[in-house]
Parts: sequence; structure tokens; C-alpha cells
Amino acid sequence: MQLLDGRATSAEIKEELRLAVLKRKEEGKKIPHLAAILVGNDGGSMTYVNAKVKACDAIGFESSLIRYDDTVTEEVLMNKIESLNNDAQVDGFIVQLPLPDHIDEMKVTQAIDPKKDVDGFHPVNLGNMVLNLPGFLPATPAGIIELIKRNEVETEGKSCVVIGRSNIVGTPLSIMLGRNKSPGNCTVTLTHSRTKNLKEITSEADIIIAAIGRPEFLTAEMVKSGAVVIDVGTTRVEDATKKNGWALKGDVKFSEVADKCSYITPVPGGVGPMTIASLMINTLRALDLQGK
Ligand code: GUN
Repeated sequence: MQLLDGRATSAEIKEELRLAVLKRKEEGKKIPHLAAILVGNDGGSMTYVNAKVKACDAIGFESSLIRYDDTVTEEVLMNKIESLNNDAQVDGFIVQLPLPDHIDEMKVTQAIDPKKDVDGFHPVNLGNMVLNLPGFLPATPAGIIELIKRNEVETEGKSCVVIGRSNIVGTPLSIMLGRNKSPGNCTVTLTHSRTKNLKEITSEADIIIAAIGRPEFLTAEMVKSGAVVIDVGTTRVEDATKKNGWALKGDVKFSEVADKCSYITPVPGGVGPMTIASLMINTLRALDLQGK
């Protein structure tokens, strides 16, 4: 079994980006600037957004963190998005999800200028992704593809089962892995809560992507020997042995699945750092798309 080390791979990417920023500086070009909007105090969201800001610092991007209380109105948020769309200093921005129930996530996502939508969640970017046209790829699926590519995991002709059909991970990833590209050319099965015979389906798979947000859902009996397992789950579960009282758990029961795999991602340190690396790649690309 070989670990797919997202931390090491993302460090490699961040170093490349740091050098690209230095080159831009030498050429007198604009330094990339990522802004992030965070609503409320959800622990997971705060951790992710802080990690994104820290990554910007490490590679020499400028960043802005815009925080609102979870009582913020949709109108205030929409006005902020409008001002970021028109702010020439900000090259790309994200609104960390999930948002409180009184705010319409679809409306917010669609208000972001597609040229600054470095999360790749806007319908224009998702449409471009489906048609294989230039645009921003959603950060987590793109990070998984990059992890597979840089670690030379073979996908050509493989059967791949994606568990979970979310708009931001499962659905786009199922399309990206099925494309005529490398990595790609998988025969993809997208499974979900209504799938009847999940265990039979996963047990046949060469590659399994677990993205349902249910801790330790994928057990050894669901995985064939030699499979590649990618764990997108990041649920906080109580853990009295930890200083902060919780531990991050993936969707894969790592303790029993790892030994059966050819490759597996750890949690933490697998997909998470790759999502951040992808966001940074997208932010640098934003300048190209905007002709900056
Ligand atoms: N919530 C979970 N993943 C993501 C992500 O990649 N981007 C944003 N904006 N919110 C998220």
C-alpha cells in the first residue's frame, strides 16, 4: 500500500506557484489577490478558510478575509459580492460554504463573476468544465485529479466508483474522470443515497472516491484487493484523547481498508491540502483569464 500524500504533493505545487509569483514580480505584473468570505463561526469552515489565507501568505499571494456574523442578510452578502466583482485589486474570491439556511447558496454562487469564481462553482464554469472548455475547475475534484496525476496513478480504462453526487465534488469529479484525458478515461459509476447494491458495485471498482460525509462509511468488505481509494470526507467527531476534543474522520475506515489498497489518501493530509493547492492554481489562472 502506498499513501497518496496530499501534503507533500500540495507543497510541491505551492513551491511552483511561489516561483511563478516571483517571476510575475520581476516582470512588473500584478501579484495575485484572493479574497474569501466567511459567514458565521463553524469550526470546519474557519479551519479551511484560515488554511487558504495561510497558503496565500506562503506563496506570496495577497489575500483578504471578509467575515460576517451568521445573522448577516442575503442583501449585505450580495452587495459585497457585487463590490468584489468590480474590485480590480481582487483577482478571485470565494464564499465558503455552507451558508446559513436563510441565505440562498445558489443565488450567491450565481452572483459571482465567472472570471473571478476561483472555486469553479458558477454554472458558467461548471458548463465549461462539462464541455472541456477553458474556465475554472472546482477545487476539490481538480485537486484529486492533480494528486492522481503527480503520483502516476493509472486511470486509463479503469472502473471508478464515486460515492456521493454533490455539486462540488461527486458530480463534477464523475465527469472529469470519464473524460478522454490523462488522468481520465475511466468507466465511471456515480452512486448515491438511492443506490441499491452499493457494496456489490464498490467491490468491483479499481478506483473508489468516497465523498458522502459519513465517517468511516467505506469498510474493507466493500473494497477489492489492490483498489485505489480516495477519501474526501472531513467530519469532526468527538475524541476525548485529542487536545481540542475532536478528530477529523474521513469517509473510509482507514484502519481496515488501507491494507487492501494499492494507493489510499489519509485524512487529514490527503485531499484537503490538494483542494487548497487547486484554489491557488485557479487564482493564478484568474489573472490570465482577466488579461492581467
Ligand atoms: N465547503 C466545502 N468545500 C468547499 C470549497 O471547496 N469551497 C467553498 N467555498 N466552500 C466549501
